[in-house]
Amino acid sequence: MTQPVSLTRYLVEKQRAQGHIPGQLRLLIEVVARACKTISHSVNKGALGGVLGSAGSENVQGEVQKKLDLIANEVLIDANEWGGHLAAMASEEMDTIHAVPNRYPKGEYLLLFDPLDGSSNIDVNVSIGTIFSVLRMHDEGRAVREADFLQPGRCQVAAGYCVYGPQTTLVLTVGDGVAMFTLDREQGSFVLTGDGVRIPQETQEFAINMSNMRHWDAPVRRYIDECLQGKQGPRGKDFNMRWVASMVADVHRIITRGGIFMYPWDKRDPAKPGKLRLLYEANPMSWIIEQAGGSATTGRQRILDVPPQNLHERVSVILGSKNEVERVTRYHLEQAGQ
Ligand code: AHG
Ligand code: MN
Ligand code: MN
Repeated sequence: MTQPVSLTRYLVEKQRAQGHIPGQLRLLIEVVARACKTISHSVNKGALGGVLGSAGSENVQGEVQKKLDLIANEVLIDANEWGGHLAAMASEEMDTIHAVPNRYPKGEYLLLFDPLDGSSNIDVNVSIGTIFSVLRMHDEGRAVREADFLQPGRCQVAAGYCVYGPQTTLVLTVGDGVAMFTLDREQGSFVLTGDGVRIPQETQEFAINMSNMRHWDAPVRRYIDECLQGKQGPRGKDFNMRWVASMVADVHRIITRGGIFMYPWDKRDPAKPGKLRLLYEANPMSWIIEQAGGSATTGRQRILDVPPQNLHERVSVILGSKNEVERVTRYHLEQAGQ
Protein backbone atom coordinates (compact mmCIF):
# COMPACT_ATOMS: atom_id res chain seq x y z
CA MET A 1 0.00 0.00 0.00
CA THR A 2 1.34 3.45 -0.86
CA GLN A 3 1.92 5.80 2.07
CA PRO A 4 -0.34 8.84 2.25
CA VAL A 5 1.60 12.04 1.46
CA SER A 6 1.10 14.78 4.03
CA LEU A 7 1.25 18.48 3.14
CA THR A 8 4.56 18.68 5.03
CA ARG A 9 6.08 15.84 3.02
CA TYR A 10 4.74 17.25 -0.24
CA LEU A 11 6.37 20.63 0.48
CA VAL A 12 9.65 19.15 1.71
CA GLU A 13 9.95 16.92 -1.38
CA LYS A 14 9.08 19.79 -3.69
CA GLN A 15 11.67 21.98 -2.01
CA ARG A 16 14.29 19.25 -2.29
CA ALA A 17 13.53 18.23 -5.87
CA GLN A 18 13.12 21.59 -7.50
CA GLY A 19 14.47 24.13 -5.05
CA HIS A 20 11.07 25.62 -5.76
CA ILE A 21 9.91 26.53 -2.30
CA PRO A 22 12.25 28.53 -0.06
CA GLY A 23 12.22 27.46 3.62
CA GLN A 24 10.34 30.56 4.79
CA LEU A 25 7.65 30.04 2.19
CA ARG A 26 7.27 26.41 3.19
CA LEU A 27 6.85 27.48 6.82
CA LEU A 28 4.33 30.11 5.77
CA ILE A 29 2.19 27.60 3.88
CA GLU A 30 2.29 25.17 6.78
CA VAL A 31 1.30 27.87 9.25
CA VAL A 32 -1.62 28.96 7.05
CA ALA A 33 -2.71 25.31 6.73
CA ARG A 34 -2.55 24.92 10.51
CA ALA A 35 -4.68 28.03 10.93
CA CYS A 36 -7.19 26.61 8.43
CA LYS A 37 -7.36 23.46 10.54
CA THR A 38 -8.25 25.56 13.58
CA ILE A 39 -10.88 27.49 11.58
CA SER A 40 -12.27 24.21 10.30
CA HIS A 41 -12.77 23.01 13.90
CA SER A 42 -14.65 26.20 14.80
CA VAL A 43 -16.81 25.92 11.68
CA ASN A 44 -17.58 22.30 12.60
CA LYS A 45 -18.69 23.18 16.11
CA GLY A 46 -21.18 25.73 14.81
CA ALA A 47 -23.87 26.57 17.36
CA LEU A 48 -22.17 24.28 19.93
CA GLY A 49 -19.10 26.51 19.85
CA GLY A 50 -21.13 29.74 19.99
CA VAL A 51 -19.53 30.87 16.71
CA LEU A 52 -22.65 31.56 14.63
CA GLY A 53 -24.37 34.90 14.12
CA SER A 54 -23.37 38.51 13.68
CA ALA A 55 -20.51 40.19 15.52
CA GLY A 56 -22.43 43.46 15.50
CA SER A 57 -19.71 45.36 13.62
CA GLU A 58 -18.94 46.38 10.03
CA ASN A 59 -15.73 46.06 8.02
CA VAL A 60 -14.13 48.88 6.02
CA GLN A 61 -16.30 47.89 3.05
CA GLY A 62 -19.50 48.46 5.01
CA GLU A 63 -20.33 44.75 5.26
CA VAL A 64 -21.74 43.36 8.50
CA GLN A 65 -19.14 41.12 10.13
CA LYS A 66 -20.09 37.67 11.36
CA LYS A 67 -18.50 36.20 14.48
CA LEU A 68 -16.67 33.67 12.33
CA ASP A 69 -15.26 36.40 10.05
CA LEU A 70 -13.51 37.86 13.09
CA ILE A 71 -12.56 34.51 14.64
CA ALA A 72 -10.96 33.32 11.39
CA ASN A 73 -9.16 36.65 11.04
CA GLU A 74 -7.73 36.38 14.57
CA VAL A 75 -6.68 32.75 14.06
CA LEU A 76 -4.74 33.65 10.90
CA ILE A 77 -3.04 36.65 12.52
CA ASP A 78 -2.10 34.83 15.72
CA ALA A 79 -0.71 31.87 13.79
CA ASN A 80 1.37 33.99 11.41
CA GLU A 81 2.74 36.78 13.59
CA TRP A 82 5.60 35.12 15.42
CA GLY A 83 7.21 32.67 12.97
CA GLY A 84 9.63 35.12 11.34
CA HIS A 85 8.38 34.38 7.83
CA LEU A 86 6.27 37.50 7.30
CA ALA A 87 6.72 41.24 7.07
CA ALA A 88 3.01 42.07 7.18
CA MET A 89 -0.54 40.85 6.57
CA ALA A 90 -3.69 42.30 5.05
CA SER A 91 -7.24 41.02 5.27
CA GLU A 92 -10.77 41.70 4.14
CA GLU A 93 -11.64 42.26 7.79
CA MET A 94 -8.94 44.85 8.60
CA ASP A 95 -9.07 48.46 7.37
CA THR A 96 -5.36 48.66 6.85
CA ILE A 97 -2.29 46.44 6.85
CA HIS A 98 -1.10 44.58 9.94
CA ALA A 99 2.69 44.76 10.23
CA VAL A 100 4.45 42.05 12.22
CA PRO A 101 5.00 43.59 15.71
CA ASN A 102 8.55 44.66 16.54
CA ARG A 103 8.93 42.01 19.24
CA TYR A 104 9.01 39.33 16.51
CA PRO A 105 11.55 38.76 13.74
CA LYS A 106 10.51 39.85 10.23
CA GLY A 107 10.48 37.75 7.09
CA GLU A 108 10.39 38.49 3.39
CA TYR A 109 6.74 37.70 2.64
CA LEU A 110 3.42 39.51 2.63
CA LEU A 111 0.25 37.52 3.31
CA LEU A 112 -3.22 38.56 2.20
CA PHE A 113 -6.40 36.73 3.07
CA ASP A 114 -10.14 36.55 2.98
CA PRO A 115 -10.40 34.78 6.35
CA LEU A 116 -13.95 33.59 5.81
CA ASP A 117 -15.38 33.56 2.32
CA GLY A 118 -19.11 33.01 1.88
CA SER A 119 -20.15 34.67 5.15
CA SER A 120 -23.84 34.59 4.20
CA ASN A 121 -23.62 30.78 4.30
CA ILE A 122 -22.13 30.41 7.80
CA ASP A 123 -25.39 30.27 9.71
CA VAL A 124 -27.13 28.02 7.19
CA ASN A 125 -24.49 25.27 7.25
CA VAL A 126 -23.38 25.61 3.62
CA SER A 127 -19.74 25.38 2.46
CA ILE A 128 -17.51 28.35 3.26
CA GLY A 129 -13.76 28.84 3.10
CA THR A 130 -10.53 30.79 3.49
CA ILE A 131 -8.61 32.32 0.57
CA PHE A 132 -4.96 33.42 0.74
CA SER A 133 -2.32 35.03 -1.44
CA VAL A 134 1.41 35.41 -0.83
CA LEU A 135 3.61 38.19 -2.24
CA ARG A 136 7.27 39.02 -1.74
CA MET A 137 8.29 42.18 0.13
CA HIS A 138 10.82 43.70 -2.21
CA ASP A 139 12.57 46.18 0.01
CA GLU A 140 13.31 44.44 3.29
CA GLY A 141 14.71 46.37 6.21
CA ARG A 142 12.22 49.26 6.17
CA ALA A 143 8.69 49.58 7.52
CA VAL A 144 6.05 47.93 5.36
CA ARG A 145 3.62 50.23 3.57
CA GLU A 146 0.24 49.51 2.03
CA ALA A 147 1.84 50.21 -1.36
CA ASP A 148 4.03 47.11 -0.92
CA PHE A 149 0.88 45.01 -1.26
CA LEU A 150 -0.22 46.65 -4.51
CA GLN A 151 1.42 44.14 -6.83
CA PRO A 152 -0.39 42.58 -9.80
CA GLY A 153 -1.54 38.99 -9.30
CA ARG A 154 1.16 37.61 -11.60
CA CYS A 155 3.68 38.48 -8.84
CA GLN A 156 2.15 36.01 -6.36
CA VAL A 157 4.53 33.34 -5.07
CA ALA A 158 1.87 31.11 -3.50
CA ALA A 159 -1.92 31.10 -3.43
CA GLY A 160 -4.56 28.81 -2.06
CA TYR A 161 -7.91 28.29 -0.51
CA CYS A 162 -9.39 25.96 2.04
CA VAL A 163 -13.01 24.94 1.67
CA TYR A 164 -14.93 23.92 4.80
CA GLY A 165 -17.57 21.63 3.35
CA PRO A 166 -18.50 17.98 3.79
CA GLN A 167 -14.71 17.60 3.70
CA THR A 168 -12.11 20.23 4.54
CA THR A 169 -9.95 20.58 1.43
CA LEU A 170 -6.89 22.75 0.90
CA VAL A 171 -5.99 23.70 -2.66
CA LEU A 172 -2.56 25.17 -3.31
CA THR A 173 -0.31 26.51 -6.03
CA VAL A 174 3.27 27.72 -5.84
CA GLY A 175 3.39 28.25 -9.60
CA ASP A 176 3.90 24.75 -10.91
CA GLY A 177 0.42 23.32 -11.03
CA VAL A 178 -2.30 22.80 -8.46
CA ALA A 179 -2.34 20.29 -5.61
CA MET A 180 -5.26 19.29 -3.41
CA PHE A 181 -5.13 18.08 0.20
CA THR A 182 -7.95 16.67 2.33
CA LEU A 183 -7.93 17.11 6.09
CA ASP A 184 -7.62 13.76 7.87
CA ARG A 185 -9.23 14.62 11.21
CA GLU A 186 -7.95 11.48 12.94
CA GLN A 187 -4.34 12.17 11.97
CA GLY A 188 -4.78 15.93 12.21
CA SER A 189 -2.98 16.49 8.92
CA PHE A 190 -3.70 17.50 5.36
CA VAL A 191 -3.16 14.55 2.99
CA LEU A 192 -2.45 14.87 -0.73
CA THR A 193 -5.56 13.78 -2.65
CA GLY A 194 -4.92 15.38 -6.04
CA ASP A 195 -1.85 16.63 -7.89
CA GLY A 196 -1.51 18.31 -11.28
CA VAL A 197 -5.22 19.16 -11.14
CA ARG A 198 -6.64 20.16 -14.57
CA ILE A 199 -9.91 21.93 -15.36
CA PRO A 200 -11.81 20.52 -18.36
CA GLN A 201 -11.73 23.07 -21.22
CA GLU A 202 -15.37 22.51 -22.16
CA THR A 203 -18.29 22.82 -19.78
CA GLN A 204 -22.07 22.93 -19.65
CA GLU A 205 -22.31 24.55 -16.23
CA PHE A 206 -22.33 28.24 -15.35
CA ALA A 207 -22.35 30.07 -12.00
CA ILE A 208 -23.69 33.61 -11.73
CA ASN A 209 -26.12 35.38 -9.41
CA MET A 210 -29.11 35.51 -11.78
CA SER A 211 -30.96 37.97 -9.54
CA ASN A 212 -28.61 40.66 -10.86
CA MET A 213 -29.57 40.00 -14.48
CA ARG A 214 -31.28 43.35 -15.03
CA HIS A 215 -28.03 45.12 -14.06
CA TRP A 216 -25.68 43.15 -16.34
CA ASP A 217 -23.72 44.56 -19.24
CA ALA A 218 -24.65 43.40 -22.79
CA PRO A 219 -21.82 40.82 -23.25
CA VAL A 220 -22.75 38.98 -20.03
CA ARG A 221 -26.44 39.03 -20.99
CA ARG A 222 -25.58 37.66 -24.41
CA TYR A 223 -23.50 34.82 -23.00
CA ILE A 224 -26.08 33.74 -20.40
CA ASP A 225 -28.93 34.19 -22.84
CA GLU A 226 -27.22 31.81 -25.26
CA CYS A 227 -26.64 29.27 -22.47
CA LEU A 228 -30.31 29.46 -21.48
CA GLN A 229 -31.44 28.73 -25.04
CA GLY A 230 -29.80 25.32 -24.66
CA LYS A 231 -29.89 22.79 -27.50
CA GLN A 232 -32.19 25.01 -29.58
CA GLY A 233 -29.85 28.02 -29.33
CA PRO A 234 -26.52 28.95 -30.94
CA ARG A 235 -24.55 26.82 -28.44
CA GLY A 236 -26.42 23.66 -29.46
CA LYS A 237 -26.27 22.17 -25.97
CA ASP A 238 -28.11 22.43 -22.67
CA PHE A 239 -26.48 24.20 -19.73
CA ASN A 240 -26.94 23.70 -16.01
CA MET A 241 -26.66 26.44 -13.38
CA ARG A 242 -25.07 26.39 -9.92
CA TRP A 243 -24.60 29.29 -7.46
CA VAL A 244 -23.41 28.51 -3.94
CA ALA A 245 -22.75 32.17 -3.00
CA SER A 246 -19.38 31.12 -1.57
CA MET A 247 -16.70 31.77 -4.17
CA VAL A 248 -14.53 29.04 -2.63
CA ALA A 249 -17.24 26.43 -3.15
CA ASP A 250 -18.03 27.57 -6.69
CA VAL A 251 -14.34 27.63 -7.63
CA HIS A 252 -13.78 24.26 -6.01
CA ARG A 253 -16.55 22.75 -8.11
CA ILE A 254 -14.97 24.26 -11.23
CA ILE A 255 -11.52 22.94 -10.27
CA THR A 256 -13.09 19.51 -9.81
CA ARG A 257 -15.38 19.18 -12.84
CA GLY A 258 -15.17 22.38 -14.90
CA GLY A 259 -17.53 25.30 -15.32
CA ILE A 260 -17.53 29.08 -15.53
CA PHE A 261 -17.94 31.50 -12.60
CA MET A 262 -18.85 35.14 -13.05
CA TYR A 263 -19.25 38.06 -10.71
CA PRO A 264 -19.00 40.69 -13.44
CA TRP A 265 -19.12 44.48 -13.33
CA ASP A 266 -22.75 45.59 -13.40
CA LYS A 267 -24.74 48.81 -13.58
CA ARG A 268 -25.95 48.89 -9.95
CA ASP A 269 -23.11 51.19 -8.99
CA PRO A 270 -21.14 51.91 -12.19
CA ALA A 271 -18.23 53.33 -10.21
CA LYS A 272 -17.76 49.99 -8.45
CA PRO A 273 -15.74 47.65 -10.68
CA GLY A 274 -17.43 44.52 -9.30
CA LYS A 275 -18.14 42.81 -6.00
CA LEU A 276 -15.13 40.60 -5.41
CA ARG A 277 -11.89 42.00 -4.06
CA LEU A 278 -8.85 41.93 -6.34
CA LEU A 279 -6.02 41.23 -3.92
CA TYR A 280 -7.38 38.49 -1.68
CA GLU A 281 -10.22 36.94 -3.70
CA ALA A 282 -9.77 37.43 -7.46
CA ASN A 283 -5.96 37.20 -7.67
CA PRO A 284 -5.38 33.98 -5.71
CA MET A 285 -8.36 32.26 -7.34
CA SER A 286 -7.32 33.42 -10.82
CA TRP A 287 -3.81 32.09 -10.38
CA ILE A 288 -5.09 28.72 -9.16
CA ILE A 289 -7.49 28.56 -12.11
CA GLU A 290 -4.73 29.43 -14.61
CA GLN A 291 -2.38 26.93 -13.01
CA ALA A 292 -5.06 24.27 -13.54
CA GLY A 293 -5.33 25.13 -17.23
CA GLY A 294 -8.29 27.51 -16.97
CA SER A 295 -8.58 31.20 -17.65
CA ALA A 296 -9.51 34.31 -15.61
CA THR A 297 -10.35 37.76 -16.97
CA THR A 298 -12.28 40.90 -16.06
CA GLY A 299 -14.01 40.54 -19.44
CA ARG A 300 -11.46 42.90 -20.91
CA GLN A 301 -8.11 41.86 -19.51
CA ARG A 302 -6.34 39.06 -17.66
CA ILE A 303 -7.04 39.50 -13.95
CA LEU A 304 -3.43 38.72 -13.01
CA ASP A 305 -2.31 41.76 -15.05
CA VAL A 306 -4.59 44.28 -13.33
CA PRO A 307 -2.41 46.86 -11.52
CA PRO A 308 -3.93 47.33 -8.03
CA GLN A 309 -4.60 50.88 -6.82
CA ASN A 310 -5.67 50.12 -3.27
CA LEU A 311 -5.88 47.31 -0.76
CA HIS A 312 -9.60 46.60 -0.85
CA GLU A 313 -10.36 47.39 -4.48
CA ARG A 314 -12.94 45.34 -6.32
CA VAL A 315 -12.78 43.81 -9.76
CA SER A 316 -15.01 42.15 -12.33
CA VAL A 317 -14.38 38.36 -12.29
CA ILE A 318 -14.95 35.79 -15.05
CA LEU A 319 -13.06 32.55 -14.50
CA GLY A 320 -13.06 28.82 -15.16
CA SER A 321 -12.96 26.54 -18.19
CA LYS A 322 -10.77 28.18 -20.82
CA ASN A 323 -13.08 28.05 -23.85
CA GLU A 324 -16.04 29.55 -22.01
CA VAL A 325 -14.02 32.35 -20.39
CA GLU A 326 -12.48 33.17 -23.78
CA ARG A 327 -15.96 33.32 -25.29
CA VAL A 328 -17.28 35.80 -22.68
CA THR A 329 -14.10 37.85 -23.03
CA ARG A 330 -14.51 37.88 -26.83
CA TYR A 331 -18.08 39.16 -26.42
CA HIS A 332 -16.73 42.02 -24.26
CA LEU A 333 -13.98 42.89 -26.75
CA GLU A 334 -16.43 42.78 -29.68
CA GLN A 335 -18.68 45.22 -27.83
CA ALA A 336 -15.70 47.52 -27.27
CA GLY A 337 -14.90 47.26 -31.00
CA GLN A 338 -11.52 45.62 -30.39
P1 AHG B 1 -17.36 37.31 1.60
O1 AHG B 1 -18.25 36.39 2.37
O2 AHG B 1 -15.90 37.09 1.85
O3 AHG B 1 -17.74 38.76 1.71
O4 AHG B 1 -17.48 36.93 0.04
C1 AHG B 1 -18.75 36.70 -0.51
C2 AHG B 1 -18.64 36.75 -2.01
C3 AHG B 1 -18.31 35.44 -2.67
O5 AHG B 1 -17.87 34.42 -1.86
C4 AHG B 1 -19.59 35.03 -3.36
O6 AHG B 1 -19.31 34.48 -4.61
C5 AHG B 1 -20.38 36.29 -3.46
O7 AHG B 1 -19.90 37.17 -2.49
C6 AHG B 1 -21.84 36.05 -3.25
O8 AHG B 1 -22.53 37.19 -3.56
P2 AHG B 1 -24.13 37.27 -3.62
O9 AHG B 1 -24.56 37.42 -2.20
O10 AHG B 1 -24.39 38.48 -4.47
O11 AHG B 1 -24.65 36.00 -4.24
MN1 MN C 1 -15.02 36.46 0.06
MN1 MN D 1 -14.84 37.14 3.72
